[in-house]
Amino acid sequence: KRGGYDHFMLKEIYEQPESIVNTMRGRVNFENQSVKLGGLSNYLTTIRRSRRIVMIACGTSYHSCLAARDLFEELTDIPISVEVASYFIDRKPPLFRDDTCIFVSQSGETADTLVALKYCLERGAMCVGVVNVVGSSLSRLTMCGVHINAGPEIGVASTKAFTSQYVALVMMALLFSEDRMSKLQRRKEIIDGLGTLSEKLSEVLELNDVIEETAEAMKDKTKMLVLGSGYQYATALEGALKIKEISYILAEGILMGELKHGPLALVEKDLPIVMIATKDKLYDLVASSVSQVTSRLGEPVFITSKNGPRLIEPTKASTDGKVAARAESDYVKFEVPETVDCLQTILNILVLQMLGYWLAVKKGYDPDFPRNLAKAVTTR
Ligand code: UD1
Ligand code: F6R
Repeated sequence: KRGGYDHFMLKEIYEQPESIVNTMRGRVNFENQSVKLGGLSNYLTTIRRSRRIVMIACGTSYHSCLAARDLFEELTDIPISVEVASYFIDRKPPLFRDDTCIFVSQSGETADTLVALKYCLERGAMCVGVVNVVGSSLSRLTMCGVHINAGPEIGVASTKAFTSQYVALVMMALLFSEDRMSKLQRRKEIIDGLGTLSEKLSEVLELNDVIEETAEAMKDKTKMLVLGSGYQYATALEGALKIKEISYILAEGILMGELKHGPLALVEKDLPIVMIATKDKLYDLVASSVSQVTSRLGEPVFITSKNGPRLIEPTKASTDGKVAARAESDYVKFEVPETVDCLQTILNILVLQMLGYWLAVKKGYDPDFPRNLAKAVTTR
């Protein structure tokens, strides 16, 4: 029933080249570069006119919203806020009829998300669902929405639902901005990117053996940082969540720009630090964070672009005279194919899902059943 895999989590990780295609099937037209979401057709005018979009979710689903925020802002020019459902309910913030609320949930049964939905429905906002389970409470109670069609997700740690939610949100951002001529080129670039994503995901899966070896070498560590910037900030948070929930290593996702404002104090010899350093417009900031970390002898492992630019200049390998300078080739690097900046998250997160998986397995834990956690959190 696990299709030859030792765990559902690994099976679901390996399903992703296929599950993201299922999310796009019948919805993205690669020939005429358009997007159609049947569930939203009758609601587009209202959504495009809304004065604000509020995305609401928990856990991994919250991270997919966070990952999509930049693109929503860029393409729609509508102000976006992203809310953790429980905190949103605790605050009871102002909400209006001309707001659109997007609820993202794999199960469609998460209690906090459902209570937030009730709150938004009562205030007359347009409530849209992005849900995996057809017929779930969230799918039924929202006014309209998109089923992500990722197929059943059994492992408690969410993997393929995350990548499919993100693809669904990208399709929504493309659809909401269809009437904006100024975004035509950018939209085309993203749609082309979606078309080649599946084969690139399969390429990332080929890193499995090196990731397993790295996990073996890292398994006795008790803490770890995962650093990202821009689009990769959400990837860092989601990667850290995966690692902590199944391997019980205290992993923390940190925005690179915040390093100097506190977390740099943690960096010392041998602290494992995953640095997401794929090529994008923030690459200079990434390179500067790399030197902040290596000069303090942290032990970075890099997620970088295949054939990407150099991360560490040979002459700057160390700024500390007392240690032998280390070259870029001395560090572990997971090289992933390059794609459009806003889709890179989907490739990069796979590396962290696999790292989390192998850390759990090497430590002797069952990644399908993390302690104290349930697949759907149906109580508040
Ligand atoms: C639908 C069919 C799909 C069929 C396709 C053919 C279903 C579930 N889907 O897919 O089998 O192949 O037409 O055109 O029968 N909805 C919500 N909230 C949510 C998610 C969805 O209200 O969170 C609503 C949508 O607004 C829509 C319906 O549920 O009315 C189905 O949504 P979805 O499956 O995404 O629609 P299609 O992709 O058109
Ligand atoms: C983590 C994980 C959880 C869920 C969260 C929301 O791997 O699975 O953080 O993402 O409980 O669940 P859904 O998406 O079902 O609302």
